Amino acid sequence: MKNITLVLLVIVGLALGAGLGALIWWLIRSKNLYETILLEGRVGDVNSTAAFTRFRGQGDMFWWFYPTLAPSPMTRPVILWLHGITGTSTSFLANFGMFGPYDENLNRRADSWINNYNLLFVDAPLGTGFSTSDNKAKFPGVDENADYLLRTLQSFYDIHEEYKNSSLYICSQGDGSQLALALTIKLYEKGSISNDFKGIILGNPVISPALALTKLGFYLEELGYIDGRGREAVENFTKITNSLVQSNQLENAFDHFTSLGYFVNENTGATAVNLAHIVEKLTRNSSTQDYFGERSYVESVFRSNTNINSFMETVVAPALGMSDTVKYDGQRDAAIRAFRSSYMKPIVDKVEHILNNTTLTVNIYNGNLDAVSNTPGQLEWINKLSWFGQAEFLNSSRTTLVFNRLIEGYFREAERLRFYWINVAGQLVPLDNPVGIRRVLNRIIN
Ligand SMILES: *[C@@H]1O[C@H](CO)[C@@H](O)[C@H](O)[C@H]1NC(C)=O
Ligand SMILES: *[C@@H]1O[C@H](CO)[C@@H](O)[C@H](O)[C@H]1NC(C)=O
Ligand SMILES: *[C@@H]1O[C@H](CO)[C@@H](O)[C@H](O)[C@H]1NC(C)=O
Ligand SMILES: *[C@@H]1O[C@H](CO)[C@@H](O)[C@H](O)[C@H]1NC(C)=O
Ligand SMILES: *[C@@H]1O[C@H](CO)[C@@H](O)[C@H](O)[C@H]1NC(C)=O
Ligand SMILES: *[C@@H]1O[C@H](CO)[C@@H](O)[C@H](O)[C@H]1NC(C)=O
Ligand SMILES: *[C@@H]1O[C@H](CO)[C@@H](O)[C@H](O)[C@H]1NC(C)=O
Repeated sequence: MKNITLVLLVIVGLALGAGLGALIWWLIRSKNLYETILLEGRVGDVNSTAAFTRFRGQGDMFWWFYPTLAPSPMTRPVILWLHGITGTSTSFLANFGMFGPYDENLNRRADSWINNYNLLFVDAPLGTGFSTSDNKAKFPGVDENADYLLRTLQSFYDIHEEYKNSSLYICSQGDGSQLALALTIKLYEKGSISNDFKGIILGNPVISPALALTKLGFYLEELGYIDGRGREAVENFTKITNSLVQSNQLENAFDHFTSLGYFVNENTGATAVNLAHIVEKLTRNSSTQDYFGERSYVESVFRSNTNINSFMETVVAPALGMSDTVKYDGQRDAAIRAFRSSYMKPIVDKVEHILNNTTLTVNIYNGNLDAVSNTPGQLEWINKLSWFGQAEFLNSSRTTLVFNRLIEGYFREAERLRFYWINVAGQLVPLDNPVGIRRVLNRIIN
């Protein structure tokens, strides 16, 4: 491993010169103490940079950058990908599972996104994937993780300065939206880290989860999974969730919300559905220790490779040159608990803030088979956003998303806000409808 200590030396030097001991302490404590630890190994023949950004005494954030195979990579966008807080980490699911250059059997993926885009995979929050928190007593919440992500991005540009002028999109999956929005606001305010920050792309985001849930009873009944009585039970559940949120009992609301899969499957009339992918058939005793079903869906898709953690620990970690004691995803439960007090709080105002006060574009796509972030529930907040361009957004016509004469979904696009309905996809659109998502990216980016 090669240690590159950046920024720190300059600051220490300057501050010593000025003789300002207190200032040194403050500077070191606040923004600038990070170092980049480059990993020397790699997986396969495709060029990449894997590294940890280390926040001394606090933790390490893992990132993995793949330059695009398209000509003139610097003229192509950088896609920063953040996976969900409750889900499966970026370094496995986005990279090997969905659209990186190699699949989970280490075969080259012909339609990898690196054919068109530079990919920056980041394991966040600290405590998930290969990223770790040193502070076992207090894991970082959303704002602290957004600060770590900001410095991680800075550390990426320290190593790959040549991409500073390339356009940048921050993309998130599921509840990764909570990190993505916080990072977007900080990055925009900071100004100088990327020279061409273009926008945010949110897949099945968790922005106003209790509100989205108000449509769940309707959604499940219309699909025939429950009857009128089941719908009443679901609506009772969602009313409780909403009243906990409204009375600001956010931790209780989170605990209630995360029991949703169990509740729907046990108390609404003998359904056995995976809420992450509503058409997946479950057995009656499928795992209920899974927040919203993503994990069990992923494991059912990657049958040949169900032990994700051991694949990452025994195949990927040694190939990258990590120590052989590394644990993959070993602190996730503690990492999730750090979000208990913020997770259920609606963050529609952050979306509005980005629309009102920046020049970035906000792009949202939603798979129609996701019951938790169900599309009718998402439109409850999207159609009511308050910002100057909303009338234009609502007035623009809904159009079909077509590829090779097949309809992959629908979209409504205004200049700053775009929404994509994706067909035949649950919570994980890139996994379920890879053609549809590539059309979406193409529309957003080109
Ligand atoms: C790999 O990336 C490095 C730095 O980004 C570049 O200098 C080198 O030419 C690349 N190699 C290949 C084979 O693309
Ligand atoms: C980025 O653009 C600025 C201004 O146009 C230029 O001075 C700088 O050299 C560019 N940097 C890179 C890495 O291309
Ligand atoms: C829903 O809540 C109401 C009021 O608390 C209760 O009377 C009703 O039995 C509940 N319905 C179901 C199906 O649980
Ligand atoms: C489901 O649970 C029952 C009893 O708890 C057990 O006998 C059965 O083997 C389980 N089935 C599967 C597929 O795990
Ligand atoms: C954001 O923009 C609105 C006008 O759209 C303005 O009233 C408000 O003060 C701005 N807020 C911030 C934090 O800049
Ligand atoms: C955005 O601006 C609209 C007015 O155009 C205002 O009603 C709304 O409260 C603003 N939202 C935020 C979060 O700034
Ligand atoms: C709504 O769209 C129509 C045509 O598509 C256009 O003529 C009209 O000006 C639009 N109104 C607003 C408020 O954007």
